[in-house]
Amino acid sequence: MNEVTTIGLDLAKSVFQVHGVDASGKPVVRRQLRRRQVLSFFKKLSPCLVGMEAQDSMPARIAEDKIVQLRELALNFRNCFTAELRACVKQEPVLSKFISELEAIDCSSTREFGSEPLPVAVTKYLETAIDQINCSHPLAVSIGQLAASIKWYQIFQGEGIEPTLSEGLVAGQVAGQVGIFDASSIRTGLFLLAPGIHYPLHQHGAHEIYFVVSGQLVLQHLRTGTPFAVKPGQFSVTPPHHVHALTVNQNPCLLIYAWIGEVEAPNWWWKQDDAGSWSRICWIRRPDARWVRTTSEPISEEILKEAGEK
Ligand SMILES: [Fe+2]
Repeated sequence: MNEVTTIGLDLAKSVFQVHGVDASGKPVVRRQLRRRQVLSFFKKLSPCLVGMEAQDSMPARIAEDKIVQLRELALNFRNCFTAELRACVKQEPVLSKFISELEAIDCSSTREFGSEPLPVAVTKYLETAIDQINCSHPLAVSIGQLAASIKWYQIFQGEGIEPTLSEGLVAGQVAGQVGIFDASSIRTGLFLLAPGIHYPLHQHGAHEIYFVVSGQLVLQHLRTGTPFAVKPGQFSVTPPHHVHALTVNQNPCLLIYAWIGEVEAPNWWWKQDDAGSWSRICWIRRPDARWVRTTSEPISEEILKEAGEK
């Protein structure tokens, strides 16, 4: 082999392509090198000119690495969450439905996200919420990294909601119509509530569970139900259509949520007027997963029954 005088090195993640020519420009080396072979290959060569791309494809490779990492985090989330529910299924048999849906998620492809500004609640409170994960539960521990990488969005948008409330409720979907994994029969991911938030009485056709990772959630079922605390490492179950409310204390609260069943049905917010009459406001989910307010209607006897009130 004539002596190599010039080498072109095509950089890639793990396999590098080498093209070498001699002084006359004749190709004398053309081979692939694994990352671990690169140093030993060049040590054997006499000094020569080496050209390599430095920038053009690096952003794409960094983006590719991020997608791979996000997929691994999401897969770990799905597996740990499923294992957690399986451990609790004896005491709460309804969890078997959630387990089936989690296991059915197609994790083979990953949705790519554009870059958007982070919601205010994320910039203000996520770091604190992650720092306050003091639960040694493996599921809680694994959430910190996912929470820092997932795409967050403000859940409620538009008119008819106090800015403090709309800004204080943000989600990051792991599986669903905007999730890392595409899924049609389950919505699951992370839910961050800002300090002091009160998510008023509401009902939805979806069956809902929450698993608290950081902070504390106070949940109330039914209009006159006694509020109860759900602490890190604990979960709550809300049956379909049951009216419920959430309150957060002075610390942000980071949760895992899962919805199954009527995942696209409206979310109805209940409201009592000064005369004591109850009505409900309809929120519908847009294709981008955000909820927007539409109509309202009085609470009928039929609705009360469906909501578990009678
Ligand atoms: Fe809910």
